[in-house]
Amino acid sequence: MKGRLLADILKGKKLLLIIGGGIAAYKCLDLIRRLKERGVNVQAILTKGGEQFVTPLSVSSLSENKVYQELFSLTDEAEMGHIRLSRENDLILVAPATADLMAKMASGIADNLATTTLLATDKPVMIAPTMNSQMWGHAATQSNLSVLKERGTLVIPPADGDLACGEVGTGRLAEVPDMIKEIEAFFLSSRASSPLMGKNITVTAGPTHEAIDPVRYIANHSSGKQGYAIAAALSARGANVTLISGPTALSAPDGVEKVAVISARDMMDETAKSLPADAVICVAAVADWYVDGTPDQKIKKQNGALPELNLIENPDILKSISNHESQRPPLVIGFAAETENVINYAKTKLAKKGCDWILANDISGDVMGGDDNQVHLITAEAEDTWPHSSKIDVAKKLTEHIEEYFKDSE
Ligand code: C5P
Repeated sequence: MKGRLLADILKGKKLLLIIGGGIAAYKCLDLIRRLKERGVNVQAILTKGGEQFVTPLSVSSLSENKVYQELFSLTDEAEMGHIRLSRENDLILVAPATADLMAKMASGIADNLATTTLLATDKPVMIAPTMNSQMWGHAATQSNLSVLKERGTLVIPPADGDLACGEVGTGRLAEVPDMIKEIEAFFLSSRASSPLMGKNITVTAGPTHEAIDPVRYIANHSSGKQGYAIAAALSARGANVTLISGPTALSAPDGVEKVAVISARDMMDETAKSLPADAVICVAAVADWYVDGTPDQKIKKQNGALPELNLIENPDILKSISNHESQRPPLVIGFAAETENVINYAKTKLAKKGCDWILANDISGDVMGGDDNQVHLITAEAEDTWPHSSKIDVAKKLTEHIEEYFKDSE
């Protein structure tokens, strides 16, 4: 990971594009294409004004997502309320941001889906204004602009040149490459300011395979999805992640150094080798036992006589890292997969393993191998039940907690 390439900064980002009513709205279609090329998931709200210049069909075809238009649409609200739409993206971009939209944003007016979403969001908002140069220069618009800037709204300034109204001046919507540059700069700087930037974090993931003979092994249903999602989320915030993974069908997330292992003993060795680290997160579903003295040849059936497997307990990676004499990382996190009594067992495990946090998950459903997870964060001081959500969202939430931890310890 030392010297690894900075992953494409926009890949996997979620952007909500609010298309205002301006002749330059056509540029949004190209913007969506360029963002999609860079791996951004684009959702769009098309305002009534925007609809006059681009069609919902072209926006949804290019974004490959549904276009949201009405505030009180029964189907939209059932599928995705405006609150969720306003919260589940990494950035909201208003382009074109008309004088009218800016005025409504500055005064907190919420009279349609776009303005309501902008008022309800807890995510960063960027605007790309466009209008006639007189309107742009008007004291009312400039005052609205100052209010918005003071509140933290990011601004892609309008360019000089020929305006659609025939006049010449400031008010042209920024060109698509310039908008992309601003969006990239935003994500770069937010990543750079993360306390995880440059931190070395080891994540174990997936199952382990414990050989019985050259063709058979003991394993479990772990897919590795949760551990890989955590590695990806940490890396996206600038951490140098070493992912020590048992056999899975997944490929390493961008920018993450993957060390492939088979058995628990290999995983133990590689995890120890990754020290010193700022944090170790043991997500792997490590097999409890390995088979001692595996034969070189396949074990044959012997007229009903059963082979004897001499099982030996595997090293406990989480416990040994948590109790490491010389290189105990500042933060060690374990998982506790349980089918009953989840929180109580997790609390016992926290003490027994000596780690700092346990993420307890109820695996009685299809958590192992599935895409969703139900997690409780248990620490010595508190327990917090997180909403049932995707493994990706669990990873993001855990990453936010780890960021808080490092922020506080700086
Ligand atoms: O003991 P149990 O398997 O329930 O503990 C679960 C936690 O301990 C997980 O974080 C898992 O990754 C870790 N673990 C480990 N090495 C083992 C067994 C479990 O790191 N041998």
